[in-house]
Amino acid sequence: MLSKAQNDLVTQTGPGTPGGRLMRSYWQPLVTSEEFPIGSAPLPVKIMSEELVLFRDDKERLGLIGLHCAHRGTDLSYGRVENGGLRCLYHGWLFDIEGKCIDQPAEPEDKKFCHKVRQTSYPVQEFGGCIWTYMGEGEAPLIPDFQFLTAPEPNRWVARSVSRCNWLQSLEGSTDPAHTTYLHRLAPGTRSVRSAGNDARMLRGIDPPKINIEHVSYGTRIYALHNSPMGGKYLRVNNYAYPCVAIPTTSTGDAGYQGRWNVPIDDYNNSHFEFFYRHSEPLDKDALRKLRSENVEADNRHTRRLENRYLQDRESMHGDGDFSGMGRYFPAHDCFAAETQGPIQDRTREHLGSTDIVIIEIRKALLKAIKQMEETGEAPWRIRETTENPFEEFVCLSSFIGEDEDGSSFCRRILGERKAAE
Ligand code: FES
Ligand SMILES: [Fe+2]
Repeated sequence: MLSKAQNDLVTQTGPGTPGGRLMRSYWQPLVTSEEFPIGSAPLPVKIMSEELVLFRDDKERLGLIGLHCAHRGTDLSYGRVENGGLRCLYHGWLFDIEGKCIDQPAEPEDKKFCHKVRQTSYPVQEFGGCIWTYMGEGEAPLIPDFQFLTAPEPNRWVARSVSRCNWLQSLEGSTDPAHTTYLHRLAPGTRSVRSAGNDARMLRGIDPPKINIEHVSYGTRIYALHNSPMGGKYLRVNNYAYPCVAIPTTSTGDAGYQGRWNVPIDDYNNSHFEFFYRHSEPLDKDALRKLRSENVEADNRHTRRLENRYLQDRESMHGDGDFSGMGRYFPAHDCFAAETQGPIQDRTREHLGSTDIVIIEIRKALLKAIKQMEETGEAPWRIRETTENPFEEFVCLSSFIGEDEDGSSFCRRILGERKAAE
């Protein structure tokens, strides 16, 4: 449970808010590269309650500037891309990718006024299948060297979906190991449409896991230890990374993992970037795209949504049927769980149990990071040097472990083996 003041701190990210200041201290993905290929029209985007326009100038350089023209506020996404910038349709003011006003056709030719005008602008770069922006103060850090961003292109893929709720609900869902055996439980004999992997067999309809955490440089390592119905101890090592990233093993064993980056659009909507990654084999991107097109609409929201009660089929829930009655596409289940907590979950009224240890720890980490930011001006885990990238300590896999091992000793062993192999 949080106090009202604490809940406000961790959920509000608009300009000037402490939580927004923390979130702005890191590069954030705006859209996927597939959403904004070369030749795209200027795209209105909203991030952390700021309305912006993403565009490429006539040299194909990316720019991200305020959506409303500095003159009298007309929407620049309708503007013309020409003469080194984006020209407002109303009176023809022209802004370059840095937000500098470089032409005011109706004003005196001395350009004195022109040079005084500046549109809000943020640095922007394309990397790892996304277009990113840094909206913070001072020098930008580096983007963390997650393998789901840096692996060879055939081995990674990213898609974005939008949830109608505060970003923290989506993050909490992505990091919560306790819900898997309930929300995503399927009728015996059926498989998730996404995972034919081992985890599904290991976890199907069994006891909830024992959950533990360990604090690490990049955030929190999350251990979910299952008694496998096949015998033995089965461990999933998931991760939370500052400030809004979940990195779960999903159902891939040691073959790869996912990144789930939850970026506030405003305090009541968030973009959920789902990164897929395999170590040593290419992804079947056609299959991933097909699955997405069958479950996500052109507005980037799931077909199953609040307005249609997530198309729940209560008939399918009878007896040994599906637990949720919401089909076999797990992201739709997660979206249901997060959205129906309300636009911003009232955390003053919840009752956290022992399996909510991850949720409690992530909130503590966020509150601590916000406080640190307020007191020192520096957010945790901002990577400055390329030598800090890729970062050590990172483990994300699921595996059977020894009878005498736990999550922490297992990870120490894995990291030791990695180091020895270098
Ligand atoms: S409102 Fe944009 S040029 Fe006048
Ligand atoms: Fe889930």
